[in-house]
Amino acid sequence: MTSSNILFLGAGRMGGAILRGWARSADIGEGVCVVDPTPGVAAGFAEKLGVLGIQSISELPLDYRADALVLAVKPQMIEQALPPLVPFLSQSGVIISIAAGFSIERIQALSRTGQPVVRTMPNLAAEVGLSATVAVASGEVADTHRELANSIMESVGSLRWVDDEELLHAVTAISGSSPAYVFALAEALAAAAEPLGLSKELGQDLAIDTILGAAALMKENRDPADLRRQVCSPGGTTLAALEVLQGSPGLNELIMDTANACVKRSRELAEIKGK
Ligand SMILES: NC(=O)c1ccc[n+]([C@@H]2O[C@H](COP(=O)([O-])OP(=O)(O)OC[C@H]3O[C@@H](n4cnc5c(N)ncnc54)[C@H](OP(=O)(O)O)[C@@H]3O)[C@@H](O)[C@H]2O)c1
Repeated sequence: MTSSNILFLGAGRMGGAILRGWARSADIGEGVCVVDPTPGVAAGFAEKLGVLGIQSISELPLDYRADALVLAVKPQMIEQALPPLVPFLSQSGVIISIAAGFSIERIQALSRTGQPVVRTMPNLAAEVGLSATVAVASGEVADTHRELANSIMESVGSLRWVDDEELLHAVTAISGSSPAYVFALAEALAAAAEPLGLSKELGQDLAIDTILGAAALMKENRDPADLRRQVCSPGGTTLAALEVLQGSPGLNELIMDTANACVKRSRELAEIKGK
């Protein structure tokens, strides 16, 4: 059972997925407090996980001191929601944020100068325990804080660390936003199935199962290029298909443009929000 006091601010889609994942992988208990204004949400977690569940921080016991705060509200809520929590967070308490586009500098400005902050970028697959998450730590983050962040975020998938916060724009393009690229690929395969005589439903089922199978193969083999070469026999059907997909301009150029557009938008949003 974790003996630390850990406060979850926001238990919606992502915060809820992390709570459920963490509860599956660790023995979390009474020191964990979930704050979420949506009626029934915090109470539901209190009932299922034995944590303290409240709708507002005004219900927090005055002597509650969090060793860590998991910031899982929408970015636009942070300015309003974070400052009143600071008295309930210990001076060396770490803030683990999953808020997209909200910088460490801004989090520290709303909490305390020198507050340790771990900023993470998970993706939607956290809901099924398969997020590809990347984290970056402020200079104040200690090994114990990193271990806690590992324990929480690895409960919903993989976690990798980078040293430069600026790289989170690229991470957004490669893993944060990219589940949608894969959904678009499945849609395109299903759409191509119809003119070829398959029903849209069958096309979609085949596309989803194929993406799952290909992902499992890549997870075993690690090198997608090897797998692609193995499956392309000379004069065969797959090679004929890939000559189109990887022609020029082809998939590589399209994905490069896609990722560049994502990075550009991510930078613009950070500037609008006042990085
Ligand atoms: N979803 C993704 O794929 C994804 C990926 C990467 C990062 N993220 C980040 O994850 C964060 C959460 O996103 P989400 O999709 O989980 O949003 P969400 O489902 O809307 O969850 C946010 C939760 O926070 C609650 N909340 C609002 N104000 C609060 C306050 N003052 N105190 C405590 N709780 C409060 C909301 O309640 P109400 O609905 O009642 O306001 C809601 O239940 C965002 O910062 C987002 O950038 C999400």
